[in-house]
Amino acid sequence: MGIRIAGIGRYVPEKVLTNHDLEQMVETSDQWIRERTGIVERHIAAPNESTSDLAYKAALDALNRAGISPEELDMVFVASASPDMLFPATGCLVQAKLGAKNAGCFDVEAACPGFVYGLELARGFLSLPHYKKVLVIGAETLSRITDWTDRNTCVLFGDGAGAAVLIKDDSNRGIIASYLKGNGKLGDLLYLPAGCAKMPASHETVDQRLHFIKMKGREVFKHAVVEMQTSALKALERAGLKPEDVDWLVPHQANIRIIEATYERLGLPREKVYINIDRYGNTSSASIPIALAEMDEKGLLKPGQIVVTVSFGAGFIYGANVIRW
Ligand code: ACO
Repeated sequence: MGIRIAGIGRYVPEKVLTNHDLEQMVETSDQWIRERTGIVERHIAAPNESTSDLAYKAALDALNRAGISPEELDMVFVASASPDMLFPATGCLVQAKLGAKNAGCFDVEAACPGFVYGLELARGFLSLPHYKKVLVIGAETLSRITDWTDRNTCVLFGDGAGAAVLIKDDSNRGIIASYLKGNGKLGDLLYLPAGCAKMPASHETVDQRLHFIKMKGREVFKHAVVEMQTSALKALERAGLKPEDVDWLVPHQANIRIIEATYERLGLPREKVYINIDRYGNTSSASIPIALAEMDEKGLLKPGQIVVTVSFGAGFIYGANVIRW
């Protein structure tokens, strides 16, 4: 039995924020951002758009490509670090928008690797008898939790969504192995301090700008490089494969230098790596499904190819999937 992606879709908001725009907002330069991150521009949600809207549009695209109607879905879930609200889950808001009336719905909070975790979760559901079609979405409106006065972080993030419909069938295609791991001891290197149980919203938390992402970038960078490589190798080992068997590496798009270090450490050539960070920045859980959807649109993904997705993010958590496309 194969558990495979039957359709993959994406949506990014219309508004584009360039590095030159950012030069007007904080003390930075296009050259610094390009050289240190690889980012040229990113998309930003309109005031009347939020994570569930982006997720809904990406989901419609994925369902259309799969030729599956919302009523056929057994489960809908959204991976996001920037959900519409704490509850109801964004997955439930999307289920309602889609009219997926036969599906369960919930959220996965697994930061940037949310989609990588989500694919493995979907594989788990689809291994059970009563689940046949599962929709996994990675969607973010990080612009709403970004401190636009902090040049260390505001140049990095963008908004967007990607979605995949997974089904089980008799083919040998699909997710063949995953590796998911974490190190919760390093949580304070990348976090959002206020607004929940530990530090509820107050005038002080607002004044101290504690409702925005806080990050020790250099530390995150060091760990990301090591754990992205390790995760990809472990997932490949579980699949009984080696780096030379990989047709496409689709890494989380956080920083071009992290991506380069990852594929070089794996001994992969640049041609086997999909990179679009220049146009979207870091869209967290949405970055991998957006990349896969773009690759699909361009006809880059052929049946039987080995595709490895790999990600790293707040937690810290990390992981990789090996997919026979
Ligand atoms: N423009 C100009 N200068 C800047 C900017 C900016 N936007 N941001 C920082 N600088 C300055 C710093 O203040 C520092 O100046 P100083 O030496 O006078 O103190 C200097 O540039 C170098 O700063 P570093 O932090 O050492 O720069 P680094 O080369 O590490 O790049 C960056 C910073 C881009 C944040 C990098 O560390 C990084 O990408 N880290 C990983 C971040 C990441 O991937 N986070 C997300 C992963 S998880 C997820 O996706 C949610």
